[in-house]
Amino acid sequence: MNLNPDTLATISKYALKPPLFEPGEPHFWDDPHISVSMLEAHLNPEHDAASRRTETIDKEVGHLLSSGLLKRGDRVLDLGCGPGLYASRLVGAGLKITGIDISARSIDYARRYAQDKGLDIEYRCLDFLDLDYDSEFDVIIQIYGELSTFSDGERGSLLEKIHRALKTEGRLVFDVSTRDQRLKEGLGNSWYISTPGFWCPGPHLVLQHGFDYPEHDVWLDQYIVVDDAANVTVYRDWFHDYTLQSVQEVLEKMSFRVQQTWNDLGGARFEEGGDWIAIVAGKTGP
Ligand SMILES: C[S@@+](CC[C@H](N)C(=O)[O-])C[C@H]1O[C@@H](n2cnc3c(N)ncnc32)[C@H](O)[C@@H]1O
Repeated sequence: MNLNPDTLATISKYALKPPLFEPGEPHFWDDPHISVSMLEAHLNPEHDAASRRTETIDKEVGHLLSSGLLKRGDRVLDLGCGPGLYASRLVGAGLKITGIDISARSIDYARRYAQDKGLDIEYRCLDFLDLDYDSEFDVIIQIYGELSTFSDGERGSLLEKIHRALKTEGRLVFDVSTRDQRLKEGLGNSWYISTPGFWCPGPHLVLQHGFDYPEHDVWLDQYIVVDDAANVTVYRDWFHDYTLQSVQEVLEKMSFRVQQTWNDLGGARFEEGGDWIAIVAGKTGP
């Protein structure tokens, strides 16, 4: 690896705290190597890296069904369905499911799995922000904190599209992360060399750097990756954490009203101080 002055200058630029929600490398989800690593992470039943572990998914699906939130015959949209771990469990309960995800690799896997198992699920490879439905769904689910990854502007346009996609009595069911969770995890400041690894198929150096924006309840996990040809790429995972009050305010502005809350989608009773807030919101406007 040749760390020439240009390489060091690029790394130094990325080491400065960036403005809120400044994007990193945009082709993250469809990178030919990273998307394979990501799919493996989704499918690992024992950890919570990209999808929750199998035991938790089963509990959440059980709760969504036993609480009556999702009922036989409901038309359900799974936003950010990944490889279809929730959709392929829920379809057995007689729901009509559409799964949407930006990752072509996850959607290909989900389609193949559904075909192999004879599951009738519609999957679309689409950016949430291009959602194009009008009054079609009884319930929209968005699971594992995806709403926390958006800037205020993107979140507003996503909630507008979700509102339009739901029927009048339709409901949005989702979870967001809290600052209590971030503070437990702490800022990740570390480096390692890998061959291969999550980010690259060849030898590479990873500089992980966390930035906190406490006045905005925002947190950035940044990864600067330097490959063996000294190419520098920055990947950024932004997280906007919420309290019950702040998420309620956002929803009210977008014509939703909170109907139910838990500490997680498995149905744990809501208490302040949890890592997650799980929410059911109904529409207040047409
Ligand atoms: C944390 S994962 C959760 C996946 C799934 N809900 C689960 O719990 O197994 C977030 C998912 O959202 C998808 N995603 C991220 N940004 C997206 C976007 N703009 N449009 C559509 N899908 C997106 C990712 O590809 C990923 O599958």
